[in-house]
Amino acid sequence: MRKINMVRFAGAVAALAVLTAVVIGCGGGASGGGVTPTVGAFTNAAPSNARAIVAQKALQAIGTRQMPGSTLAGAPNLSAVTPQAVTVGAASGDNGITQVNVRAAYDSNNLYFQCDWLDATESVKKNWLVFNGTTWSKSGDEDRLALFFDIGGTAAGNGGDGGTFAQKGCQAMCHADGMRTTSGTLDEWHTKMARSTPAGYSDDKWIDNTVNPADVEAGHHGDAGQNTYSGNNGANNVPKLVWNGAMSLGANFLVGEEGVALAGDPVAGATAYAANCAACHGAQAQGGAGPALASYLLSHSVSTASTKITTGTMAAYAKGVAPANYVAYLQTLPGVPGSALREAQGSRADVRARAAYANGGWTVIIWRALNTGNVDDVVFNPAGGAIPIALAVMDNNGAAHNGTQGPWTVEFAQ
Ligand code: HEC
Repeated sequence: MRKINMVRFAGAVAALAVLTAVVIGCGGGASGGGVTPTVGAFTNAAPSNARAIVAQKALQAIGTRQMPGSTLAGAPNLSAVTPQAVTVGAASGDNGITQVNVRAAYDSNNLYFQCDWLDATESVKKNWLVFNGTTWSKSGDEDRLALFFDIGGTAAGNGGDGGTFAQKGCQAMCHADGMRTTSGTLDEWHTKMARSTPAGYSDDKWIDNTVNPADVEAGHHGDAGQNTYSGNNGANNVPKLVWNGAMSLGANFLVGEEGVALAGDPVAGATAYAANCAACHGAQAQGGAGPALASYLLSHSVSTASTKITTGTMAAYAKGVAPANYVAYLQTLPGVPGSALREAQGSRADVRARAAYANGGWTVIIWRALNTGNVDDVVFNPAGGAIPIALAVMDNNGAAHNGTQGPWTVEFAQ
């Protein structure tokens, strides 16, 4: 039986002093080894005791919307926790990932994990919508991490070489018709680098014994409430929303409430752009005799861009084409995210997460209340002994994954 030891936070002041000396990954976290205790971007910089190190009250105080993008900002800082090597291997296909370094900790309110692994490419463009001047298509996937726990303690699968989740881990749930149980339920925290962590969450799901030969996902269910994303591809993969210029999460993610419908006709715009603008601004608006335009038009509102095209001092160009058509075309050049991000709600919002890619690998930090009070979630009882866990990582793929082989448990240090 292989174990992940769960550290108990204790001795707050000393622990915090250590924590601030180390900066995790990129983005948030403590800044530059200063002496002021900080835990991510939380405002409770100097909690009075260890159990407040990443206290639930502080989490709630962050507000109703926190969309970090690809950064660890706002995450609990686990850098003082010793990582443990968790070996993973081919489960469905083989993505070559062999090890995940896991830090685990808990306090009186919450449970925390930090998972680090090597991945040569950062993949965050799931269902990216691309325009070729005439038609739209979608392509691309995302990197992911999944953690599994037995909700009732009795989940059985009899897949692979048989047995229960506690005895065999993921292999017990592996069936030709999908990952599922034969009885009992699993909690699944599906951390998605395009669709959930940019919005601040791991997608909270659960698995039962539902079978549908036509749908390998039939045994997977979202927790009650709302997840962090909605599909952004309309008919013929035309995006429903494009950026309105806010781009608060940069050019990889689209926050739904910052999105607007394409104001013009990008097909007409592509034709008109090639005839009237490309000579000075470049075929892909990369610049030339005139400045590069792609970034300009993404980071300015449609009305600002239209006004600029209409009233700019550049040499006269063919009139008679609506400025919005040029803008619509230029907005397509970098592609458009396949999902619009939104705030999670209900039980689907229980698992907070951050992910950042740096130095050839991912760092993911996940935290959740020990007991959410929701029936679709596992309850963690640190006094109740070790609990089975399984873990899998995906590399720009929703199906192929490498995971723990055989049983693993989490033990709570007392
Ligand atoms: C003869 C060369 C030329 C052509 C043709 C031309 N532009 Fe320009 N454009 C420029 C130059 C030079 C500038 C920078 C000076 C200015 O703002 O007038 C510019 C500026 C702009 C700006 C403002 C960029 C910024 O960063 O402020 C936009 C938007 C723009 N052009 C769009 C277009 C569009 C759309 C077309 C085609 C309908 C077009 N331009 C045709 C030369 C050209």
